[in-house]
Amino acid sequence: MLIKVLGLLFLISGSLALEGYKILEISPNSEDESNVVEQLSETYDFLKLTRVEPSQVLVSPEEYQTLSGLLAKYNVNFKTINENVLADILTDATDNSKLCATSRLGTDCYRSHSEINNYIDELQRQYPNRVNVKKVGVSYEKRDLKTITITNGDGRANKKIIFVDAGMHAREWISPSVGLYVIQQLVENFSENKNLLQNFDWVVMPMINADGYEYTRADTKNRMWRKTRKPYNKCFGVDPNRNFDFKFGYAGTSAKECDDTFKGPNPFSEPETAVLRDVLKSYKGRISFYLTLHSHGAYLIYPWGYDKIDGPNKNELEDVSQAGYQAILKHSGRKYKVGNAAKLMYPAAGASDDYAYSEGARISITMELPSGGLRGFDPPPKDIKKYVEESWVGIVAMANKVVEKY
Ligand SMILES: *[C@@H]1O[C@H](CO)[C@@H](O)[C@H](O)[C@H]1NC(C)=O
Ligand SMILES: [Zn+2]
Repeated sequence: MLIKVLGLLFLISGSLALEGYKILEISPNSEDESNVVEQLSETYDFLKLTRVEPSQVLVSPEEYQTLSGLLAKYNVNFKTINENVLADILTDATDNSKLCATSRLGTDCYRSHSEINNYIDELQRQYPNRVNVKKVGVSYEKRDLKTITITNGDGRANKKIIFVDAGMHAREWISPSVGLYVIQQLVENFSENKNLLQNFDWVVMPMINADGYEYTRADTKNRMWRKTRKPYNKCFGVDPNRNFDFKFGYAGTSAKECDDTFKGPNPFSEPETAVLRDVLKSYKGRISFYLTLHSHGAYLIYPWGYDKIDGPNKNELEDVSQAGYQAILKHSGRKYKVGNAAKLMYPAAGASDDYAYSEGARISITMELPSGGLRGFDPPPKDIKKYVEESWVGIVAMANKVVEKY
């Protein structure tokens, strides 16, 4: 009941102007307290939601009042880790414009959706025998959604596929940056990565939620938007990563239109998720490795995510994830957390990793890229390079494992 009242408050306060927003870190100390956090996650905007370390939630001034009261009531420890989210966003925006003005590639600053599409179109013109860009659909606001297929140019058809997608959650800007870096390395640094393309083609969809992404870019006050942009009564958008048709509407999803984990009225209600579904179906039986890029927290997690149940080839999922873990540890010393998605985080149904897995992808992994910067969310623009390079090391190691064994 309390939570319902809070949901209503949020609806009335409505805007996401970010004035006075803070980030709280919540540290439950028991199963009961974790269950309180799980409940709250349906209503509040969690930036990070996990059982194995503190979670993080973005709150408006009004939400701060109600949430801190609730947490105190349930005796759950919390502290404020960022007092002024908007200030960091404004700094990042200024830095990003400067960096974009002097750099060429999408990974030197955070780029727009059309710059990303232009970059992959340009690669097709430059490397026509190894690159094929396809328009696979349009977003709700009619932006072109594209995939890029990267081969070694030997013309052999029906190879197995490594599929990578990015940009599902609008505000997770480091995700499409890593997606672009994957593309850049495979295409422009082909000679170094030939082995990854010998018996496998790579298909990358670098920007799924194009509307949401452009919305976060349009105004700093929209920077923390997560969902798609199709209207639902007074609110906008669906959480695309709750909108896939596998255990749709089970745990960790909301039926309320204004919530950040709104699952949508039905599976694939969003053109963006329907496009990804169709793309995945078009490669049915060929996908050895499905990798979806999110942020944040440095996690490599695998199905099932809808409930704390291991997938049938759990050992293979763990094997590939461990390869990524080890490679990144060696590269930078960073320790990713690895494991079953529902056990490590909280159950969340209708996600694309479960869907791809249920449709036959042998290995399916969500990579929650590391936190960065003062917001503890996306890294600031000047750090993008370091993040994409480190992430690529992990992706190569996982892909090599798949190429060797799966
Ligand atoms: C190409 O790949 C190699 C090996 O990963 C790396 O050392 C090098 O920096 C890459 N070159 C470019 C231009 O990205
Ligand atoms: Zn995400």
